[in-house]
Amino acid sequence: HEEKTKVKNIQVVELGRYEIDTWYYSPYPEDYTHEHKLYICEFCLKYMRKKKSIERHKLKCGLRRPPGDEIYKTTAPIHEQVPNSDGTPVEDPPTTTGAETASHGKVQHLSMFEVDGKKSKLYCQNLCLMAKLFLDHKTLYYDVDSFLFYILTENDAFGSHLVGYFSKEKYSAEDYNLACILTLPPYQRKGYGRFLISFAYELSKKEGKVGTPERPLSDLGQVSFRSYWTRVLLEILRDHHNVSIKDLTAMTSIRYEDVVTTLQTMNLIKYWKGQYIISVTAKHIDEHLKSMSMQPNWIIDTTKLQWTPGI
Ligand code: COA
Ligand code: NA
Repeated sequence: HEEKTKVKNIQVVELGRYEIDTWYYSPYPEDYTHEHKLYICEFCLKYMRKKKSIERHKLKCGLRRPPGDEIYKTTAPIHEQVPNSDGTPVEDPPTTTGAETASHGKVQHLSMFEVDGKKSKLYCQNLCLMAKLFLDHKTLYYDVDSFLFYILTENDAFGSHLVGYFSKEKYSAEDYNLACILTLPPYQRKGYGRFLISFAYELSKKEGKVGTPERPLSDLGQVSFRSYWTRVLLEILRDHHNVSIKDLTAMTSIRYEDVVTTLQTMNLIKYWKGQYIISVTAKHIDEHLKSMSMQPNWIIDTTKLQWTPGI
């Protein structure tokens, strides 16, 4: 794609309390790319060239959360929500480090917001522009009407701070349940990507559909999806016997082909007389599960999901 060859035009963005080094080119208007740094309002995502402008903007920007419906909220502080994988409580909440300031207090909850690209066009366009700073391949920026955006926030007394998001086509003929996914760099490798992916599959389950991410996947996207699929499938195979690939697809909303390639990677599948057959032993499964790293296991409580599929 054309963008791939373009030179990185913005080196640093300031977003809320973070200064973030960018990774790739993003098509911000030329006028905004002459400075080293771009200032972005962490709530409305408006971008500005000058520190003075953002300071002025902060005084009048009334937004303290994404402009959409809050469809999920953890009810307990997250350090109580997220035990270690062996069940013991974590010592420190898996939140971002950084001193508490007037605008950033102790994280109390996580929320997911659904934002409609048609209703909140500018917000979604600004979100896509910012996301492109961390995405190698071409993605949408302006044509956001036909997408929904699922925004993950960490909430404190001041507001709901953007952590990451994924986008989803309102109607997909190809069973895509996720178009683009991002965890902002300061929040990466804490399990939030896995949370977002789980959420996309929970929505697919509610829709009674299978889903798959839009291709191409970035390397980090590939690693994250593979890790999610692997863990979900292994846990089912550990707890249920004699399940078929079709059963796995029905239970997880993971597309048939993705189930097959995931099991193939672990050598848990055989092709015999024209069909795939799952071939596992309990020992085999335990070995695989043990070899996986132990990220905080973000489990979505589907009883707290305030969402019904669009028609
Ligand atoms: N190197 C190696 N493994 C990594 C990794 C890295 N830099 N980042 C994540 N992973 C692995 C984790 O180990 C984890 O696997 P595990 O559970 O088996 O340990 C899995 O990927 C998910 O990690 P998690 O912490 O939940 O993901 P994240 O919050 O860091 O978000 C992305 C993952 C892909 C959303 C994030 O890297 C990102 O936003 N990248 C830039 C945008 C992008 O490429 N999006 C995908 C486009 S298709
Ligand atoms: Na620049």
